[in-house]
Amino acid sequence: MTDRIYFDNAATTCLDPVVLEAMMPYLTSSYGNPSSIYSYGRESRLAIENARKSVAKILNAHPAEIFFTSGGTESSNTAISAAVRDLGCKHIISSEIEHHATLHTVEYLHRTGDVQLSYVKLLPNGHIDMSDLESLLAGSNERCLVSLMHANNEIGNMLDISATGELCKKYNAIFHSDTVQTVGHFPFDLRNTPVHFITGAGHKFHGPKGVGILYINENVRITPFVHGGSQERNMRAGTENLYGIVGFAKALELATANHEMDRQKIQATRLHMKEQLEQHIPGVSFNGDPFGASLYTVLSVSFPKTDKSEMILFNMDINNICASGGSACTSGADAGSHVIRAINNNENQMTVRFSFSKYNTKEEVDAVVRKLKEMI
Ligand SMILES: Cc1ncc(COP(=O)(O)O)c(C=O)c1O
Repeated sequence: MTDRIYFDNAATTCLDPVVLEAMMPYLTSSYGNPSSIYSYGRESRLAIENARKSVAKILNAHPAEIFFTSGGTESSNTAISAAVRDLGCKHIISSEIEHHATLHTVEYLHRTGDVQLSYVKLLPNGHIDMSDLESLLAGSNERCLVSLMHANNEIGNMLDISATGELCKKYNAIFHSDTVQTVGHFPFDLRNTPVHFITGAGHKFHGPKGVGILYINENVRITPFVHGGSQERNMRAGTENLYGIVGFAKALELATANHEMDRQKIQATRLHMKEQLEQHIPGVSFNGDPFGASLYTVLSVSFPKTDKSEMILFNMDINNICASGGSACTSGADAGSHVIRAINNNENQMTVRFSFSKYNTKEEVDAVVRKLKEMI
């Protein structure tokens, strides 16, 4: 065992032992194929449908609106492609600071000539310029798909999902929101939120990796996204990730039950980090709108660039501190962050994203700030 300090919870979180316990029977004794008609199969089917009901209830959606997928990337790919293929969207409005799961999908559809693509302007603090969004919608001759994330995984900025949805409604646009960083961290009321597609990934809130959801509003009809068997109501064929689905639902139940307590703890840890950095590291600054409309889990920090700070990610790693330079979702490649470039293209700064979970402590923050002081 190392005494690693893990401040990269926006990349992924550890599995909650209670979630593992709920999954275990489905990794061992209860292995029936959910499509089999005998009792083993029926028990597995029941576990999946109970998980779906639980997820739907927590998000205030209908169970028929919840589709289990392999995670956030698949869910966003599916929603965006379906909006173009099945819902007549010929113009996508998105932003330059979306996760690559969205950005690379919309760029691909644009490159292949399927759609026109516009990026909405950003305000200096990284928020979406809502008046520019309205101008783009009003000026479009085609049906639009608006794809804007609920919370940015690198800087934490949050979108007003209801206001955006209302605007989309006014212009008859389809609205997809990547909610991977907010499902499990914020309450949702989907029956009263004007959105057509949202996404979730279990590993962002102490559930297993490789399982997620796509919510498809009941008023939207799309065609199957994986062809084959009749799983997921004929939409996504293939034997289900039974233990993953059970784990996803359990993790969401736990996150929801303890939401207020966890939020307060994480918020306090994050605030402590901000205060300690300001106190001990000269020239430090924070990206986005960290104490406005923001995730309480993410703190994006810029350090003045020096010979020493350029090595910061490397030195943190040597010192057993896990944090990320940009989006860790691009497998650690230090290609610089497209988000930081879009909002704050300052070559004289080094940016590190610290992201927190309920398991982090103020003592860990103090230890990291002490090390950072030495490193910088
Ligand atoms: C905002 C956001 N969207 C999408 C994803 C992709 O999710 P997954 O890794 O489950 O495919 C991530 C992170 O991985 C993310 O942070």
